[in-house]
Amino acid sequence: MWNFTGTRALVAGAGGIGSAVVRALADAGADVVVLDRDAAQLAELTRTGGAGATDGTGGTGGTGGTVRGLNVDLTSADACHDAVTDATGFLGGLDVFVHAVGTNDRRPVLETPDDVWDRVVAINLSSGFWLGRAVGNVMVPSGYGRVVYLSSVSGLLAHRDHAPYAATKGGVNQLMRVMAREWAAHGVTVNAVAPGYTETDLTRAYLATPGMRASMEALVPAGRLGRPDDLVGPTLFLSSAEAAFITGQVLYADGGRTLV
Ligand SMILES: NC(=O)c1ccc[n+]([C@@H]2O[C@H](COP(=O)([O-])OP(=O)(O)OC[C@H]3O[C@@H](n4cnc5c(N)ncnc54)[C@H](O)[C@@H]3O)[C@@H](O)[C@H]2O)c1
Repeated sequence: MWNFTGTRALVAGAGGIGSAVVRALADAGADVVVLDRDAAQLAELTRTGGAGATDGTGGTGGTGGTVRGLNVDLTSADACHDAVTDATGFLGGLDVFVHAVGTNDRRPVLETPDDVWDRVVAINLSSGFWLGRAVGNVMVPSGYGRVVYLSSVSGLLAHRDHAPYAATKGGVNQLMRVMAREWAAHGVTVNAVAPGYTETDLTRAYLATPGMRASMEALVPAGRLGRPDDLVGPTLFLSSAEAAFITGQVLYADGGRTLV
């Protein structure tokens, strides 16, 4: 369905959604560098690419592209800058960047200490700025680029106990829009995909609390929670050459959650 042959892609985040995107890009022929602080998740994604190649789990990589992991903590400007420099060097340039790192810490505003606020802002928003700026410094002079941020329905809705998370997702939306405006004339589009509740490590413990899954499902007109594969199509579409005239948009992939 997708053809990313020859595309050089950088994905920040090897979690549930990031992994699904990395596998789909590589399956479609892209060479991918993926960044995460979790070495085990990176190892599972690593592939040498090419016909008959083996992936990190012992399966065959088919005719897909390569996947190389870089083990990095993205909570500093220097680490983000260096990661983009290394990735660009490995790949020989950069056509696609997907930001899919994130964290959450659910508690009321009055019980949110500074260190929680700082940690969520650093991972969700500042890494998006630091990585996006470094990526833009490669893409803008080259005259082509596709940037996709994983935002959230929390960037629009006022969920209780989500103050740092919601603030960072609203911030990501605005960061994305300004980058989109500044880089549009240089062939670089910048968009966001906003998932609803999706079954990954980010939500596993929360959904396991009694009654939580049913109450979350009841809020989704589609009648179910999201799966990582639900985000692959929207993210690859916005990462494709065909999405050239779409920029500065938030694409909600939420089963209708933001309709109610
Ligand atoms: N799962 C959901 O319900 C949901 C809903 C809306 C938006 N999102 C967003 O989608 C994106 C991906 O989320 P996910 O569900 O795949 O989460 P996940 O927890 O499965 O993956 C997040 C990844 O980020 C990595 N990470 C966290 N802090 C890091 C750091 N300091 N340095 C490097 N890597 C770090 C983790 O190791 C993990 O692999 C996030 O931006 C998240 O906010 C997720």
